[in-house]
Parts: sequence; C-alpha cells; structure tokens
Amino acid sequence: MKVIAGSASGLLAGRLAKALGCQLIKPEVRRFPDSETYVRIPKDVKGEHAVVVQSTCAPANDNLVELYLLLDTAKDLGARCVTALVPYFGYARQDKRFKPGEAISARAVCKLVERAGADELLTVDIHEDEIMKNFAIPAHNLSAMSLIGRYLAKLHMRAPAILGADQGSLARARRVAAELAAEYDYFEKTRLTPTKVVTKPKRLDVAKRDVVIIDDIISTGGTVVEAARVLKKQKARKIYAACTHPVLVNNALKKISAAGVLKVIATDTIEHKTSTVSVAPLIAGAIR
Ligand code: R5P
Repeated sequence: MKVIAGSASGLLAGRLAKALGCQLIKPEVRRFPDSETYVRIPKDVKGEHAVVVQSTCAPANDNLVELYLLLDTAKDLGARCVTALVPYFGYARQDKRFKPGEAISARAVCKLVERAGADELLTVDIHEDEIMKNFAIPAHNLSAMSLIGRYLAKLHMRAPAILGADQGSLARARRVAAELAAEYDYFEKTRLTPTKVVTKPKRLDVAKRDVVIIDDIISTGGTVVEAARVLKKQKARKIYAACTHPVLVNNALKKISAAGVLKVIATDTIEHKTSTVSVAPLIAGAIR
C-alpha cells in the first residue's frame, strides 16, 4: 500500500502512512503561469493499493482539481486499487437544489471522484450521510465524534452538557456524550441569510455547567457565536466548541473567542491550529 499526499492533506497523509506502516509519496504539484494545475506522482504505484489523501477545503476548486488529477494519474500508472480519501468533503452543503436552477454540487463532485477512477471513497463526517448514496463504488463515511469525545473527557469538565449546534448534529452530540457519560441535546437553529442564524434555547438546563457545542463544520463561526450567546444568557460556566472540520474562514476564530468560547477543538481533516485531534487512527483502522 502507498499513501499519496495531496497538498491540502500533507500532515494527515504522513500520520496515516505512519499508522499503516507504508510508504508516503509526496507528489509534485505546481501551478502553471495561467493557473492550471500540474501534478506528478514521482514513485512507482503499479500493482499497488494507492490511497490518495486530499481534503477539498480552501482553495476548494484548486484542491478538487488536484484530487481529480491525482486519482486519474494513480489509476493510469497502474495502481491495482485506488482509494480516494477525502477527509473533508467540500461542496457537501450544496447537496440539494434549494432554489430552481441551482447545481446539486455535492452530487456532481461524487461523479467527478468516481469518474477519475477511484475504486472506493472514504470520508469523515460528511455534512449529510445521504450524499454517500450518490456513489456506485463502495463509499464510507467515518465519524470522528468518539475521538473528539475521548479528547474532551481529558478536560475534566464540570457536569458537562454536550449540545449539537442544530438538529443535524444531535446524533454527533450523542456519540460525543457517550464518551463522557454526559447529557446531550441540540440547539434549534433557523438560518436567516448565509451569514445570519437565530438559535433558540432548548430544554437542557446549562446553568453552572460546562458546555460543548458540537458541529460537523465551523465555517464563519456564526452558528457557534449565536449558541454561545444563548448559553451565556443561561449562565453556563465554561463554553467549548468542537467540530470535525475547522473551515474557520476569515476572523471566525476571533469572533468565537470574543463570544466567550474558551477553546475550539477540531480534527486534522483540515490543517489548522485548532486541529488537536487526529483522525489518522480512525482512518487507518478503516483501511486495515
Ligand atoms: C450547517 O448545517 C453545518 O452543520 C454547520 O452548522 C455550518 O456549516 C456552520 O457554519 P457557520 O460556522 O458559518 O455558522
């Protein structure tokens, strides 16, 4: 087996190769002066199981094209089996036609990965599990929530309450809470515009308790900031936020910290200073 590190996922690819005890290949990736992407896999992959690791985080389009070229090249160079490991699967939030005429981007990206020659797909906490049904190849969505829960257990929180940022994150909160034997719930969230959300308090009493807000993605931070505001009003003690994918655009982290969130805990599906939990053992286990 050989692990091929896409440029968005070098750190995780290295950790994965180490966990699997196999060779790590660092492809040559460059931009042509006209912005096109150049890719070269400098080591032999003929007859091998090649695992191409590439998150399609920002710059999303460049990373997506690089993923496509790496998969196509690995296959073309004679790899026996090509696994597309896309730890953060970008475009997943546009999984429906919300307005007439819109692209169903998540589905289109699934087609692209398959068309590139991937024999199987692995991802982590994809925004909606339903997206996996777009694949005809075997496709697996792993969850980092237990790993996050185990990390949180070491923080020795007081009467912890684990709250999904919205109903979609209730199952995630449940998995995290199981690791701490904690109570869990979710926030009722209504999105007004792409950057503005209104969050209603839910039934759990959080007064004087340590609370963790759980989400799959933290992007602009708007969801977490609003949740933190509600929790402060309810006199929560310490507030944490945890997610799988620290998209964290612009000054999101600053906004979150200014809202009173003590710490953001995330994984290395996207390389960021908040990525304190590695999903390498989870993925290595799945590949084995
Ligand atoms: C949306 O449904 C997702 O699960 C996240 O809640 C959302 O992407 C977070 O975005 P933001 O940080 O911009 O509020």
